[in-house]
Amino acid sequence: MASLGEDLLGVVNKLQDLVFNTIGTDSGLDLPQIVVVGSQSSGKSSVLENIVGRDFLPRGTGIVTRRPLVLQLINIPGNENEAEPSTESTGNASPPQPVEFGEFLHQPNRRFYDFAEIRREIEAETARIAGSNKGINRSPINLKIYSPHVLSLTLVDLPGLTKIAIGDQPADIEKQTRNLIMEYIAKPNSIVLAVSPANVDLVNSEALKIARQVDPQGKRTIGVLTKLDLMDHGTNALEILSGRVYPLKLGFIGVVNRSQQDIQGDKSLTEALKAEAEFFKYHPAYRNMAHRCGTQFLAKSLNTVLLAHIRERLPDIKARLNTLMGQTQQELASYGDMHFSGKEHRGSLILQLMTRFASSFISSIDGTSSDIST
Ligand code: GDP
Ligand code: NA
Ligand code: MG
Repeated sequence: MASLGEDLLGVVNKLQDLVFNTIGTDSGLDLPQIVVVGSQSSGKSSVLENIVGRDFLPRGTGIVTRRPLVLQLINIPGNENEAEPSTESTGNASPPQPVEFGEFLHQPNRRFYDFAEIRREIEAETARIAGSNKGINRSPINLKIYSPHVLSLTLVDLPGLTKIAIGDQPADIEKQTRNLIMEYIAKPNSIVLAVSPANVDLVNSEALKIARQVDPQGKRTIGVLTKLDLMDHGTNALEILSGRVYPLKLGFIGVVNRSQQDIQGDKSLTEALKAEAEFFKYHPAYRNMAHRCGTQFLAKSLNTVLLAHIRERLPDIKARLNTLMGQTQQELASYGDMHFSGKEHRGSLILQLMTRFASSFISSIDGTSSDIST
C-alpha cells in the first residue's frame, strides 16, 4: 500500500515537472500540493526546513521569502556508505556518490550537494527577479530535493502576510501578497498549511483568516502551531491542539522550531529535532499527546493527507489530462504539414513526449484506482 502511494506521488511529481517545463502553470492542470501560509515571521520557512530535515531556506526576521518557492521532495533509495561532500563533486577519481541533492528548474544541469549553496542560490534568484529591496514577485522558484530522508511531497513556501509596508516596499504590499497567496490556495487541490504562532491569540491568526476564505468548512486546511516554546508561563495550547477551539477536519499540529538565537548559534537541525521531541515528551501539558505533536508527525500526516487528496482528485486530473492530450494531438497534427525549422521541430518533440507521458500517466491512474477500490 505504501509503495503504491509513493509510486502515485512519483508520477504526479513527474507530471508537474513536465507541466512546468512545457506548458507553464496556467494550463488548467493544477496538481495537488501543500501550500504554506501565515503572517510574516510566523515560522513558515522554519517548518518547511524541519520537514526536509536540512538547512537550506533563507529565513529570519522580516520579509525574507519574496517569491513563491515550489519545493518537490523526492524520496530516493539510500546508500549504505552515504557520503556528503561539502562541495559539488567535480568528477575527480571516482568520488563517493552523495545521495542527497537539490536541482533548480532555472539551472537544470546542476546538482547542488551543498545545502548552504542552495540557500545562496534561492537568495540570488529571489534578488534577480524580485529586486534587492523588500518587494515580492509572483514568479515561482522551482526546486527539487532528492533524498532518502524525505517523504515525497510537493510544498510551496510563500511570502508572509503583512499589515503595513516597510522601507521601500510598495504601499499595496499587503494586497499584492494576499493576491499571490490566494492564487495558490484558491485551487481546490491545494492543501493549506496554515501556520500560526502560539504566542499570538488564535483569533488574530492571519493564516486561519485567509484559509477560511477558500476553505470555509475547514476540509483542506491543516493548522500548524509554531513557537509553543514561547508561550507565557502557565499557559498552553492544549485546547487548540485537541481541536476544541477552532474547527479543522485535519486538525492542529504543534511544533517547536529553532529560535533566532538557535540559528545564530548554528544549532544543528538534528539537535533541534531532538530538542523538539523532548519538549513534547516531558512537557506536563503535552506529554500525553506527544506522539501527535512535532515535525516528524507533521511530515507523516502531510504525506497521508496528500495521498488521500490525490486519490480524491484523480478523476478530475484524468479528465483534464484527456482534454490536454486531445489538444496536443491536434497541435501535433498541424505540425505534421509544416516544414520544420529547428525550433518548431523541438516543439513537436516536446509535444510528442508529453502525449506519450500523459497516456502512461492515465494508464497508471487506471491501474491505481482499480487497486484502490478493492
Ligand atoms: P517565516 O517568515 O514565516 O518564514 O518565518 P521564519 O521561519 O523565517 O522564522 C521567523 C523567526 O521566528 C526566525 O527567527 C525563527 O528562528 C523564529 N521561529 C520560528 N519558529 C519558531 C519556534 O517554534 N520557536 C522559536 N523560539 N522561534 C521560532
Ligand atoms: Na521571515
Ligand atoms: Mg519565510
